[in-house]
Amino acid sequence: MVVALTREVSPTIDSCELTHLQREPIDLEAARRQHRLYLEALRTCGCGVLPLKPEPDLPDSVFVEDTAVVVDEVAVITRPGAPSRRPETVSVAEKLAEFKPLAKIEAPGILDGGDVLRIGHRLFVGLSSRSNQAGLQQLRLFLEPYGYEVEAATVTGCLHLKSAVTAIGRDAVLANPAWVDVGQFGVSTVIAVDPAEGPGANALLVNSRLIYPAEFPLTRRRLLNAGFDVVPVPASELAKAEGAVTCCSVVFSTPTSSAPPI
Ligand code: GLY
Repeated sequence: MVVALTREVSPTIDSCELTHLQREPIDLEAARRQHRLYLEALRTCGCGVLPLKPEPDLPDSVFVEDTAVVVDEVAVITRPGAPSRRPETVSVAEKLAEFKPLAKIEAPGILDGGDVLRIGHRLFVGLSSRSNQAGLQQLRLFLEPYGYEVEAATVTGCLHLKSAVTAIGRDAVLANPAWVDVGQFGVSTVIAVDPAEGPGANALLVNSRLIYPAEFPLTRRRLLNAGFDVVPVPASELAKAEGAVTCCSVVFSTPTSSAPPI
C-alpha cells in the first residue's frame, strides 16, 4: 500500500525559513484548512495518511518531505540545510523505523528531500543552498547497493530542485525551464509551466494521479490537455512559507503497515 507521512501546520509557521520570498502574513486557520484538503486529496488518490506528532515549536515542520528520502529498501534520514529544521528529523526517523531500515546523512553533508527528484531508479540531487556534494555522496553510498543512480542536478532561482521540476510519470516531468535545464533528466515528456505561473512546477504524483495547486489554472490546463489526471488542492497559504504540495508529505510503499494509516 502507498502511505504518506504528514504533519499538521505549526502555529509558529509565520517564523518559517524563507530564501527567495519576502515574508508576508500567513493565515494559520486558512493554512490548516488547506492542509486538511491536501490530506483528503491524498486519500482520494488511494494513499493512507500517517500523521507524525505535532511539532508546534518547529515552524517548518509541516514540510516533512525535506526530512527523509525513502525507497523500497531503505529510508535515508536527511540533515536539512537549514539548522532550524534539523530537529524535525527525530520524530520522522522514529516513525520510519517502523517500516524500513534507516540510514542517516551526517555532517558535513546537508540534504533536503525537496532537492531529491526521483525518476525510476535515478535520483537527481539539486545542489541548492540546502544540499551539498557531501550529502549527495552519502545518499549515493546508501542507495547504489540497491541499484539506484544518484546524480547532481543544477537549479537556480528557487529554493529546491523540486520547486523547479517534479516527476509526473515514469518518463515525464513538469518543469519551469527558467529555473532548471530539463535536458539533464533524459525524459521523453516535458510539460512546461505556463510562463505566467513560474512556481507551478511542483506536482505530487500519487498512484498515477497528480495532486496539484489550484492556484495555477493555466498549467493545470496544459496537464489536462496532455492527458494527466489532476486533483486540485488550494495551496496558497503554505506557498507563502515557500512550500508546495510535494513538501507536505513523504510518500512511500509498504507491503505491511505496523501503524494503520488513517
Ligand atoms: N520554509 C521552507 C523552508 O525554507 O525550508
